[in-house]
Amino acid sequence: MKILVTGGLGFIGSHTVVELQNSGYEVVIIDDCSNSSENVLEGIFAITGKRPVYEKIDLREKEKVGDFFTRHADIMGTIHFAASKAVGESVEKPLHYYENNLSTLIYLLKEITAKKRQSFIFSSSCTVYGQADKMPITEDAPVKMAESPYGNTKQIGEEIIKDTCKVNSGLQAISLRYFNPMGAHPSAEIGELPIGVPQNLVPFITQTGIGLREQLSVFGDDYPTPDGTCIRDYIHVVDLAKAHVVALERLLKGENPENYEVYNVGTGQGSSVLEVIASFERVSGKKLNYSIVERRPGDITTAYADTKKANEVLGWKACSTLDQAMKSAWDWEQKIRN
Ligand code: WQD
Repeated sequence: MKILVTGGLGFIGSHTVVELQNSGYEVVIIDDCSNSSENVLEGIFAITGKRPVYEKIDLREKEKVGDFFTRHADIMGTIHFAASKAVGESVEKPLHYYENNLSTLIYLLKEITAKKRQSFIFSSSCTVYGQADKMPITEDAPVKMAESPYGNTKQIGEEIIKDTCKVNSGLQAISLRYFNPMGAHPSAEIGELPIGVPQNLVPFITQTGIGLREQLSVFGDDYPTPDGTCIRDYIHVVDLAKAHVVALERLLKGENPENYEVYNVGTGQGSSVLEVIASFERVSGKKLNYSIVERRPGDITTAYADTKKANEVLGWKACSTLDQAMKSAWDWEQKIRN
């Protein structure tokens, strides 16, 4: 069965392509390589022994999207990752973010809803919850005002899909709200490739560990948490990738009573910044150079998922520990720097 993965050369996309191919799906990737590289195809091939079809298309080019669906009329499902994802950059370039993340979603949905029955998985984010009032965060926690244009594109994206599902019974869709993805494939053939200075904690840690950065700045140790640093739910990217496959299969098999659903994808376990650093030191055997600095504006104190819905309804559960995820991130960092 043929599945389209947009952004399939990116961090989460490439790991999902691997899991799809390993589950027997025929994958077609659309990517514009704006934040990824065609070399990722070699990594996917090294792991799975299969080469996905790949088309370099910018999804803002509406005609090209239409032409693509005409040529691949047998696509049964789409997993939509392609989007810009830097929170800080989105504040600087709001129009770019709204155009890139929303027009592309609209063009895709226009093509998809022209078909009889289609399954659609959307990359959403725990960022929609902002600082939730209760932990762990359940899917019915209120969606808070977005802190950034990036976060807003995820909220609006979910609304666009929900509204489209209301009037298109053939469209079956799931939004997956990711917590903090980290790690790499255990083979170290694919992983995260941040451009420039990493904004996220784990790649910053591994780049500091390998000597590419001098020191990690820990943004604040005066939060109301046991060690004073912020708490997040770090999920191994392979576990996250597998969640996409089970979500897609639920839709393909028609097991969904509603044609639009939302799931949290996390481990259910919160870890503080200092605990993540300790994990790095355990798996690498290295001391990490870090210092405590001011809080980062916009950071929330604590966010971790209630994963009951995904566990019970999708039958999916994150399997990896923080140390396993960290080891895979460290193996990958060492491989790409050597
Ligand atoms: C994690 C923790 C920082 C860097 C981001 C996106 C969000 C969602 C998930 C996609 C925080 C601390 C970080 C550093 C630090 N992504 N930190 N020093 O902020 O939870 O969320 O990923 O949708 O939208 O914003 O992730 O990795 O930036 O930070 O101390 O150099 O690490 O303060 O507590 P965050 P992060």
